[in-house]
Amino acid sequence: MINHETIDNIIQTARIEEVIGDFVTLRRRGVNQIGLCPFHNEKTPSFTVSPAKGIYKCFGCGKAGNSVNFIMEHEHFSYPEALKYLARKYNIDVEEEEQTPEQLQELNEKESLYNLNLFAQQYFSKTLSETEEGKAIGLSYFKERGIREDVIRKFQLGFSPDKWDAFSEHAIQQGYKKEYLVKTGLSIDKENRLYDRYHGRVIFPIHSASGRVIGFGGRILGSDKSHAKYVNSPESDIYNKSKTLYGIYFAKNAVISKDNCLLVEGYTDVISLHQAGIENVVASSGTSLTHDQVRMIQRYTSNIAILYDGDPAGIKASFRGIDMIVEQGMNVKIVLFPDGEDPDSYARKHHPSEVESFISENAVNFILFKTRLLLGETQNDPIKKAVLIKEIVNTIALIPDGISRSLYVKECSSLMAIGEQVLMNELNKILRAKLKKGSPELEKNLEVISPEQISAEPQLDFDPDSAEYQEKEIIRLLLLYGQDIIHLKLTNSEGEDVPVTVADYVVHDITHDEMEFENTIFQSIFNEYITGMETDSIPNRSNFLSHSNQEISNIAVNLVFSPYELSENWHKNNIMVTTEETRLHMHVMLSLHAFKSRKLDKMMTETRKKLSVATTPEEQGALMKTFQELKKHSIRINKEGLGRIITH
Ligand code: CTP
Ligand code: MN
Repeated sequence: MINHETIDNIIQTARIEEVIGDFVTLRRRGVNQIGLCPFHNEKTPSFTVSPAKGIYKCFGCGKAGNSVNFIMEHEHFSYPEALKYLARKYNIDVEEEEQTPEQLQELNEKESLYNLNLFAQQYFSKTLSETEEGKAIGLSYFKERGIREDVIRKFQLGFSPDKWDAFSEHAIQQGYKKEYLVKTGLSIDKENRLYDRYHGRVIFPIHSASGRVIGFGGRILGSDKSHAKYVNSPESDIYNKSKTLYGIYFAKNAVISKDNCLLVEGYTDVISLHQAGIENVVASSGTSLTHDQVRMIQRYTSNIAILYDGDPAGIKASFRGIDMIVEQGMNVKIVLFPDGEDPDSYARKHHPSEVESFISENAVNFILFKTRLLLGETQNDPIKKAVLIKEIVNTIALIPDGISRSLYVKECSSLMAIGEQVLMNELNKILRAKLKKGSPELEKNLEVISPEQISAEPQLDFDPDSAEYQEKEIIRLLLLYGQDIIHLKLTNSEGEDVPVTVADYVVHDITHDEMEFENTIFQSIFNEYITGMETDSIPNRSNFLSHSNQEISNIAVNLVFSPYELSENWHKNNIMVTTEETRLHMHVMLSLHAFKSRKLDKMMTETRKKLSVATTPEEQGALMKTFQELKKHSIRINKEGLGRIITH
């Protein structure tokens, strides 16, 4: 854990334009700097950096944040990793907080497992390339399969001697604990004796995304059917099969730069494609794809191409995987290899450029893939065709984005020669059924948009009279101008000027009137200001920008970067504004006024409603009283509010 002072220090020292400047070419535009967004493809720059505010935002793809967020997003670092990166850049010593004994023990245990795996990997590699047995058996096996030495080194392939305890014994001798040998699965404990799990097998180390060895696969030599072809590490604190993709460490840069991830079945497919220069490839290692694996890929790209060998059973089984990827909002294409070939064997028989073009020429989207495959089976049988349509529409219904859904409807309609409207109706039926079952994703996005609507004018995304807008405006004022001073004229003494901060004024005004925000995130930001005022310190804007609550930091970033500025509302009202301070002062007053009077209106409406159903005279009396108080209050703030605004 990095301590709070260090985090503050890092965030305050890091200059956003320098941090981003290491990755993106920026040029000045007014007070901001702009460049081509590193997170999506664009030709004209919409990626904006504000040195003054310490944040960036892309108006093309919406990505936004401060220096820490940028490094997390760009380098795929965790929060502490990003902080450490910035600390190194600015020569800041990182002070780590003391950890509890339990935390330490857990960390130590994981560290021990990683250490042991590293030790084992080095042992297996050495055995492969330096021992007689390794060279004669393991190395010649890899060579026979056509794997080059540089590729063997890159993937850290190895060999485990064909003796039942050679590795275990060596590890114990070197001081590694039996407990960890068993936990990593390198050794098997049988009646208190340790056996090597992978003895006599060639070794494929499995790496985490950051390149640490988390497990192993061991392949038997030859094709002895009485033993499993592969033996793999058991699950442990550092190896979770369903959250692992073989090859991700070696693939991630290529996946990002090609904005596409190839998914294959096995270790050897990954390795052979790499050898052919195709590096954006990972394997699910023989199991069916999991949600976690898809999410892992999604950190780097939203495009997946699944490479299948042509066996029909495997293809049918793949449908579930396709649906899962689609559901996650990703684009999925399928490449079918010729009968009897898998990516590994194909890559070995063809020139690298042929492999590359085979993949790009044969990648078809999932609609086309499913349609082609199933259409072959229907043989013009109308009943079967109806079943097929349902099947495909079911998959389309999984796509979270309405626009993509309608594009696929269009494609499906022409492929199967069936009216678009028929498909739309079918699709909307499924969507509605889902909505009834309560699918939060869909709620935002229920109706299928017709293709004509796609190019329609975008709607203004805020309504100045809504609670949403007014509450947002208060929070925006706090974040942007909280520390600024405005001068209040006191009415009781002779025109005396009292300087107060905007934060002080806004917090006291709202709490004095006992008002709350409808939006809970806004309320929790506001609460931090209330706490701040109690101790006379205004919360720092950067606290919110890098808040541990992701929702808060998102909102803060978006508000601070909101495109409308202070003066805009003023032209409308035809009020002459002279200095920046008066403008701010007026803005604060007007915003508070709008916020409060809308709130009061709402409370009055609610009271009126209650009054109409109140039955007892006591109840009615109480409600009448409340209503009159609210009314008075409303008149007062209208008078006061406008008075304050006009006199200034
Ligand atoms: N697999 C496994 N255990 C098995 C068989 C397969 O864990 N008994 C996993 C491995 O991760 C393997 C993948 O499933 O890489 C694909 O299996 P397969 O196609 O049979 O293996 P290949 O990787 O093609 O290996 P080879 O080419 O050496 O036969
Ligand atoms: Mn194979």
